[in-house]
Amino acid sequence: MKTRGEQIAALTTYDFPTTKLLDEADIPLLLVGDSLGMVVLGYPDTTHVTLADVEHHVRAAARAKPRALLGADLPFKSYETAGEAAVNASRLAAAGAEFVKLEGGREMLPQIRAILDAGLDVCGHLGMLPQSVLEEGGYHVKGKKEEEHRKLIEDAALLADAGVFGIVLELVTPPVAKEISGKIAVPTIGIGSGDGCDGQILVTHDLIGMFPWFRPRFVQPLADGAGQLKSAVEKWKKTVQKVKN
Ligand code: KIV
Repeated sequence: MKTRGEQIAALTTYDFPTTKLLDEADIPLLLVGDSLGMVVLGYPDTTHVTLADVEHHVRAAARAKPRALLGADLPFKSYETAGEAAVNASRLAAAGAEFVKLEGGREMLPQIRAILDAGLDVCGHLGMLPQSVLEEGGYHVKGKKEEEHRKLIEDAALLADAGVFGIVLELVTPPVAKEISGKIAVPTIGIGSGDGCDGQILVTHDLIGMFPWFRPRFVQPLADGAGQLKSAVEKWKKTVQKVKN
């Protein structure tokens, strides 16, 4: 798609019906993201998500047998060493993931190579790394400082050379995200990084307004899922009460 100049639309999914619906809507790339922790499991951030949590949700999503490429996040602390990365990526593949995504730059090259050697596809993730949110004390935009800019460009090239098939760029300043996208052959999938990327990914709950308690500033919800759910439930409740009275 990058070669053809077609933008890649990607979304997160965590269960069977959503996967089926997103696939019917022709979304070509689906990710069982560890955002699962916040929008489904009720944790404050992604650092609480376990490999077993992701496996469980990948199995549910994979039962929809999507035509889309279905991937999964390796969760926090599940890829500390190359060996651990390969074993845990294989567990996600056995659950139905066709690729795994991991967060980090050059320090992740041994893990990326080990997963590729195990015969699995890898997607990189640079910029703001949600699994480091506690260390970093918040979700900060990356690429504003020259040092960050240089490191992002170098890391993207190193990851692409190592063999990742794509790189998620999260909260990277738009000019830097555009520069990276022009420099590497594999697609960049942006989230909060401007429109100069080769594609865009969003957390589906943010797009459809299903998680109204926290909305990233770069998302413009296209539906009021939470409002519609509540209004349907309230309407139904009234019909129940009518029957009773
Ligand atoms: O966990 C997630 O949802 C992600 C994003 C890139 C969408 O990693």
